[in-house]
Amino acid sequence: MPYRVRTVRDLDEFIPAIGAIGHYFGWQPTTEDAERFSKILPLERMLAVVDDGRIVAGAGAYPQELTLPGGPVACAGVTVVGVLPSHRRRGLLRRMMEAQLRDVRERGEPVAALWASEETIYGRFGYGLASMGLHVEAKRASVRIRPELPSEGSFRLIDHDETLRAVPRLYERIRKRTPGFLARSTDWWEARRIGDRPETRRGAGPLVRALYERDGAPAGYVLYRIAQDGATFAEWTKTVRVVEVVGIDEAARRDIWRFLLEIDWTDTLRAEQLAIDDALPLLVDRVNELGLRVYDGLWLRPIDVPAALAARQTAADGRVSIDVTADPQFPDNVGTWTLEAGGRVKRSSRRPDVRTDVQGLGSALLGGFTFAQLARAGRAEEGARGGLARADALLRVERAPWCPEIF
Ligand SMILES: CC(C)(COP(=O)(O)OP(=O)(O)OC[C@H]1O[C@@H](n2cnc3c(N)ncnc32)[C@H](O)[C@@H]1OP(=O)(O)O)[C@@H](O)C(=O)NCCC(=O)NCCS
Repeated sequence: MPYRVRTVRDLDEFIPAIGAIGHYFGWQPTTEDAERFSKILPLERMLAVVDDGRIVAGAGAYPQELTLPGGPVACAGVTVVGVLPSHRRRGLLRRMMEAQLRDVRERGEPVAALWASEETIYGRFGYGLASMGLHVEAKRASVRIRPELPSEGSFRLIDHDETLRAVPRLYERIRKRTPGFLARSTDWWEARRIGDRPETRRGAGPLVRALYERDGAPAGYVLYRIAQDGATFAEWTKTVRVVEVVGIDEAARRDIWRFLLEIDWTDTLRAEQLAIDDALPLLVDRVNELGLRVYDGLWLRPIDVPAALAARQTAADGRVSIDVTADPQFPDNVGTWTLEAGGRVKRSSRRPDVRTDVQGLGSALLGGFTFAQLARAGRAEEGARGGLARADALLRVERAPWCPEIF
């Protein structure tokens, strides 16, 4: 019997559809898990592959908003993609990805974004690497914030309800102006950030929520857990596992890092997916003790090229023409598009400044990579003399994109 790709019909189908990726985490979703999850991933956004009446694969897309340089746009946040090992390499992922891309386009979302389990999978579906993330595994005893830097605010450990009142407001201030950030509903906060269900602790203690206040007002927060290893007192090692650090400005972030590095009786500070241009390496006196590693971040797929470009703020006057040379799923994205300051985009017959495929455009859209960088990597070409520099001047960003949450 042929495989059928379709949207799940009810919660009973939602459970095995999300269970396909769950298989790889050793997670069998319960009805309660599925009910909670379906509040942020509506059933109509969850695809399943049915084989002889049994669900063997799934792929979801959160109806999301992603901040581009220029502000938030509607975005499909692709998630829970999985094919059971009994059905791998028979084209099921391809069929789900193609159905999902068509659906995203029909819904009018100009971009889709995802975190890749493996970097080799999603390029064929038009996703380009759009941001990088910095991971920290610091030896706490050897790292401190440079002592000459001032310390300004104070911290309060707060409970779940106060977190829900104070923290989303702070996040929202940062989100609107930080390319790479996603919107978060209350259900999202509960399910993914502050709900603190025991199964999300992965061997660590309860979630600690610390509010940073300065001049009598909230100015940042950190969410973290402490994990202890070792059987005996002599062997104990303790790790501070940071979930998220958000500050309204650099001074706030600096004070939060200092707070974390000064938690007594802990050995290691671990944090993932900081912005690649985070100030932390320059704030400490021994950068090599931070144990820095670089990972891929968000992958971005322009679904509707003119709409995605129109949402993109320009940093200078003028215009730039980009030839999108190939799109494996949407041939109407191919061609030369002229973007003018102010967000006007039209098809044009001008000689392009740069040439790249839709994946390359996905890499440039958030500002995580310049066209000059893409050209050096063979992912873009200059179309007219000075074109790379013109395109990069127009699409220049102040800060690297940063997505603080793997979804
Ligand atoms: C990754 C996964 C979804 C692939 O599903 P699949 O049904 O076996 O994939 P398909 O047979 O549809 O393959 C589609 C294409 O992707 C390629 N591909 C599949 N898995 C790949 C991998 N792990 N790395 C690189 N390429 C891969 C195939 O070669 C094929 O290429 P082509 O169509 O261009 O010739 C599946 O192996 C899985 O569920 N893995 C564990 C969970 C996971 O990693 N999920 C992704 C979360 S982001």
